Amino acid sequence: MEKLEQLYEGKAKKVFKTDDPQLLIVDYKDDATAFNGLKKGSIAGKGVINNQMSNRLMAKLEKQGVPTHFVQELSERETLVKKVSIVPLEVIIRNISAGSFAKRYGVEEGIVFDAPTIEFSYKNDELGDPLLNSYHALALKLATPQEIEIIKDYSFKVNDFLKAFWAECGVILVDFKLEFGRLADGTIVLADEISPDTCRLWDAKTHEKLDKDRFRRDLGGVEDAYAEIMKRLLDHDAQ
Ligand code: TMP
Ligand code: ASP
Repeated sequence: MEKLEQLYEGKAKKVFKTDDPQLLIVDYKDDATAFNGLKKGSIAGKGVINNQMSNRLMAKLEKQGVPTHFVQELSERETLVKKVSIVPLEVIIRNISAGSFAKRYGVEEGIVFDAPTIEFSYKNDELGDPLLNSYHALALKLATPQEIEIIKDYSFKVNDFLKAFWAECGVILVDFKLEFGRLADGTIVLADEISPDTCRLWDAKTHEKLDKDRFRRDLGGVEDAYAEIMKRLLDHDAQ
């Protein structure tokens, strides 16, 4: 499958057409942004890690009954995916307080919740991805009631699986962001990526951050953290 014209360039990925109208090629970059693009930088090797990690995790999720856009890894940075129209919602699941949750509600990071939380934000860079609830999403016609139910169901399934998977790797899944898309026939599938860019992952013993918070917060050791988290996954899969 060959790359044809570029359809779109986002903050971390480029998307290309192929000769099949239902399939696209995603090309992962090393570019990193934070705070709605205000902070810009680059994380050497990130594109390779995010591509390979996201593909491995999506393949596992398919086996758990969560449909995804993943079709086939083509190279270190390139993957063939099903074409979707993205549902303009960012779905965030949290197991532990951190980031905007800790800030918004004035609590420390690291509080373990009795049950995971779910929140939505409206995927709209101009507005800064504002938080909204499912009633707002329906009012804005961002998704149908049925789609929202499916998205919630899949998101908690993803959490159950990934939480257990990362625990086996000695990693705590603190929180993460998912995006969903509609195939041509309307089927909802998991899209975008699952990577250290979109998850908070802490070492289970030391609580060291092994994700993009090292970049967001200028903690240093960003490349090493990405390499370490990928190694944990590969070591687990090699067992
Ligand atoms: P938050 O605490 O900043 O709301 O982030 C929650 C999770 O969502 C965290 O794992 C990082 C991820 N995330 C993204 O993937 N993209 C984003 O634009 C933001 C703000 C967060
Ligand atoms: N996607 C967000 C942005 O560029 C970054 C983040 O993950 O915090 O601004």
